Amino acid sequence: MRMVSVVGARPQFVKLAPVATAFERKGLDHLIIHTGQHYDFLLSQVFFSQLGIPEPAVHLGVGSGTHGQQTGAMLAAVENDLVSRRPDCVVVYGDTNTTLAGALAAAKLHIPVAHVEAGLRSFNRRMPEEHNRVVTDHLADILLAPTEVALENLRREGLGARGVLVGDVMADVLYQVRDQLPVHASPVPPRLAGGEYLVATIHRAENTDERDRLASVVRALAGLPFPVLLLAHPRLVRRAAEHGVELCVGAIEPLEPLPFVETIATVAGSRGVVTDSGGLQKEAFLLGVPCTTLRCETEWVETLEGGWNVLAGDLTGLPALVLREPPLPHSRTPYGEGRAAEAVAEVIMARLSGLPATPVP
Ligand code: UD1
Repeated sequence: MRMVSVVGARPQFVKLAPVATAFERKGLDHLIIHTGQHYDFLLSQVFFSQLGIPEPAVHLGVGSGTHGQQTGAMLAAVENDLVSRRPDCVVVYGDTNTTLAGALAAAKLHIPVAHVEAGLRSFNRRMPEEHNRVVTDHLADILLAPTEVALENLRREGLGARGVLVGDVMADVLYQVRDQLPVHASPVPPRLAGGEYLVATIHRAENTDERDRLASVVRALAGLPFPVLLLAHPRLVRRAAEHGVELCVGAIEPLEPLPFVETIATVAGSRGVVTDSGGLQKEAFLLGVPCTTLRCETEWVETLEGGWNVLAGDLTGLPALVLREPPLPHSRTPYGEGRAAEAVAEVIMARLSGLPATPVP
């Protein structure tokens, strides 16, 4: 059975890592197409080396652009590649423009599509990720849902028969890395080693693209009462420069994006996370670190229970929210027990062989 994974943006490399291992364990012929949506070393290559992901069979080098330009270029390039490879299944991950291009190219060639992280919804139709998720789910044949809530979303859209609950593959990676965290993995300066710092990431279009919003977000972070290590995504850096918004102000200490292990070590040692990233909300939750999300909604609603994550899209009262009492410890595992990637491989193999795939408990 030949599987082709289409990936291109940072969070997809994290999701791909355990799935590639699971495919290898099952003896599947698995190739990786890298669209080149992300191309900086710190957003791409470092994840392949650190997480032991096999080298892509092809790198399409599409790069940045407007949504239409980028998605269109990826669609044409992925289609061209798939025509010659003729896989039994194309696997796409998450909700980026790469996900949509990979799913659409495969569907038009009548190649079965499996979507890892299916069924997530923010119900905010202004988010590019929401367009990508909804369209990808409706195109795909095998919908691998990370949570009960995601599976329920699929049912509501009439997609329940194609959906299976497998757990969250990002949790698989998080557990592995957390349990083997090297002692000095965190690049946090020694003066902050006591954990009296916050970790922040901002990269969503809704927070970066309009000048006033970006300036308000930066002002809010700058006014926090602890040093804020801002792991600055290139989109943030570029937009800040375009809008004339200074990032190195007040409590903010900008850093380059970190590789995965260093990110987890930095978050694990922190007092709290302030972010608009989906992955980081879950990682904070699973590491037992309070998270404050600078959005009005989240796809990962399980993190909100017990106050581990709070939404602060309007930025009001951010210092008090960030410094709230740490919630009571929890042992909930809404994202699975770390075997989601294995389930992904099993479900895909079963479905391609025409067998009913049983949900994974
Ligand atoms: C993309 C995804 C988003 C995901 C994020 C993770 C879409 C619509 N968005 O957003 O869902 O959470 O990846 O990081 O697919 N840039 C570089 N170097 C790179 C890549 C990008 O400098 O290697 C800069 C360019 O200025 C580019 C901008 O970042 O225009 C945005 O990149 P893009 O791929 O369009 O989206 P992200 O913001 O990274």
